Amino acid sequence: MTTATLDLEKVGAFAQQVGGMLAGGATAAMMVVGDRTGLYAALAASGPLTPAQLAGETGTAERYVREWLAQQAAVGFVTYDPAAGTFTLPPEHAAVLASDDSPASMIGAAPQISGMHRRTDQLIEAFRSGAGIPWGDQDQSTFEGTERFFRVGYRNSLVREWIPALDGVHEKLRAGARVVDVGTGHGAPLLLLAEAYPNSQFVGYDVHPASIETANQRAVDAGVSDRVRFEVSFAQGYPDRDVDVVTFFDAFHDLGDPVGAATHARRALADGGTLVLVEPRSADDLATTLGTVPMAAIGFAASTFLCTPNSLSQPVGLALGALSGEARLREVLTEAGYSAIRRATENDFNMVIEARP
Ligand SMILES: C[S@@+](CC[C@H](N)C(=O)[O-])C[C@H]1O[C@@H](n2cnc3c(N)ncnc32)[C@H](O)[C@@H]1O
Repeated sequence: MTTATLDLEKVGAFAQQVGGMLAGGATAAMMVVGDRTGLYAALAASGPLTPAQLAGETGTAERYVREWLAQQAAVGFVTYDPAAGTFTLPPEHAAVLASDDSPASMIGAAPQISGMHRRTDQLIEAFRSGAGIPWGDQDQSTFEGTERFFRVGYRNSLVREWIPALDGVHEKLRAGARVVDVGTGHGAPLLLLAEAYPNSQFVGYDVHPASIETANQRAVDAGVSDRVRFEVSFAQGYPDRDVDVVTFFDAFHDLGDPVGAATHARRALADGGTLVLVEPRSADDLATTLGTVPMAAIGFAASTFLCTPNSLSQPVGLALGALSGEARLREVLTEAGYSAIRRATENDFNMVIEARP
């Protein structure tokens, strides 16, 4: 195609769109810097600050802080007062950037983006060879980002909305139930459940030994290690039986053999037990997903980078993809011997599928 055939206005508009995306990628790196050095937290705790004041409060070098603040002003994260030479993080922005504890927090996602950038060469090689990449071969920032970002959603919804939407599960957990979580990672959702339901017993399994080590430390730190333990196991390897609830939090689509994992879970379940899949919300076809799922762009990036390669690294390598949709998940569960399958609830980010044999 020659340039004569191009609509140059459209080229310009698209180039601007791409420029915005590139700025977003660079800003993710700036966000990691602001997070780790405490710049966001210090801005949130103060009124307007000059670069020197912010550097003084955080023990950082003023020259770097000045440049970082200029970038943060350029993307509209902070406001700049030229007369006073000060920068301000508005409280609404602090709610998103300054702490993991805010229900609106998104800062934990930034390390996940960094993790992708650090492993791009590895993924390009996989594109060429078709080989998988195990979760454990990703960058440490990916594990940190997954835990921090997903935990915000779990804290907002798991105990308050998702568990009550499941048939009889809240009552069982309150009375004292046995719960197994598969693909538990750093264990964020299981720890929240253990805090909310002290009469129940929880075991989390994951193939990644370093994640299991971190999860066990988190259980000690949270003071719930009397009722939660984490162990290394493949999704078809754990020995538990008579389990009341088996959960997969944002992990089912990552598995090489989700049919095998759901079949193993069915055998582990007690009579009347429940399988719970928390999966990224998506429609059943790509066109609808693209038009209706707010997290499609980041979801497909994570799926390309993390979920699909992990699945391809394991036996069967079904590679569902992170946004496979409810109909595909139903097919998998039906093949694994489940008959009562329903979407118990959903929000912008996740859908919760409940299944019984
Ligand atoms: C996206 S992370 C989700 C972690 C956690 N459930 C959460 O929501 O924070 C997916 C996890 O599944 C684990 N995983 C992948 N394949 C697995 C398998 N076959 N058996 C057990 N765990 C697996 C990975 O090691 C990773 O920790």
